[in-house]
Amino acid sequence: MRTPMIAGNWKMYKDVNEAVELVNSIKRAIFNVDNVEIIVVPPFTDLSEAGEMLIETNVKLGAQNCFWETEGAFTGEISAPMLKSVGCKYVVIGHSERRKYFGETNEMLNKKLHVVIKYGLIPIFCVGETLEEREHGKTWEVVETQIIEGMKNILDNDLNIIIAYEPVWAIGTGKTATPEQAQEVHKMIRDLLAKLYSVDFSERIQILYGGSVNPANIESLMKEPDIDGGLIGGASLKSESFVDMVKKTSWLYAKK
Ligand code: 13P
Repeated sequence: MRTPMIAGNWKMYKDVNEAVELVNSIKRAIFNVDNVEIIVVPPFTDLSEAGEMLIETNVKLGAQNCFWETEGAFTGEISAPMLKSVGCKYVVIGHSERRKYFGETNEMLNKKLHVVIKYGLIPIFCVGETLEEREHGKTWEVVETQIIEGMKNILDNDLNIIIAYEPVWAIGTGKTATPEQAQEVHKMIRDLLAKLYSVDFSERIQILYGGSVNPANIESLMKEPDIDGGLIGGASLKSESFVDMVKKTSWLYAKK
């Protein structure tokens, strides 16, 4: 059985003081949860402080992005080794907001995935279609291309990677994909990974759903066989709702 994962993507919210407060409150509330992988993904400026606070806890640290070079004259960029040095274990790569507002292409994301993996960080690789693409029946074509091009020449069967399916139309809109809609795409992603890598690989990989996940819908999503967790934006910014989703997931899996 794959371990469920709840990851909070804070996006561009929380200065360092607010981050300290949120991290403290989360870690106190879920210190005894041992059957869920819990990740917080704060902005860069909070990482160092959060990293210190999370040492030897059951909450792991992730970053929202990183550059594909390891150092150099790249003003404003942050490298994979830098993220490691402040305690990051995960890096979100290819979030739709990066694709949309910062022009990140599948080719760029492929370079990012290579460097993240090389430095021993675990990528949370985001894929997902826009509303227009869904309405034109292109959902799978888009997601398949994002995976094939994004993961090009990453052929390691021992690879540690997490895929997050985030339909763009469900992000921050309150319009969640139904569990059936999400499950359908998750299953297709798993089948594709089986083809590209191996069945063992595809069975091991955690596939997260993201897009308006909240305490009211987390359980119905997590009941689907190919949904292994959530990448959560808005509802991860308050300790109560984030902790509630972690606990609901924990109870659900404890019963399995
Ligand atoms: P919301 O949960 O706010 O819809 O955001 C989802 C997301 O983009 C997580 O990466």
